[in-house]
Amino acid sequence: MRIVTHERSGPYKMKVRDLPGAEKLDPNSKLLDLPLEFCGCGLSRDKPFCDDSHRITRDEEPGKIYVYSESKERIISGKFYRSEDKI
Ligand code: FES
Repeated sequence: MRIVTHERSGPYKMKVRDLPGAEKLDPNSKLLDLPLEFCGCGLSRDKPFCDDSHRITRDEEPGKIYVYSESKERIISGKFYRSEDKI
């Protein structure tokens, strides 16, 4: 098992023209302006693309850590403590 953390709660938005290799396309191609959204929250089932799963993170509070199951249920939420914090 591996736990990967994400702090971002929304996608990275870009256009085809921002991708490596886009310079090889016809500069007049409408494809260059096609918008793309890449998952930044880590919850998408369609990675690397955003599938709007990030919406379930909207009520997350700063300073807390949240864990989601494969079925996108929130299974743990709690305060995150650094090792040097006095509890
Ligand atoms: S940013 Fe991850 S699903 Fe949208």
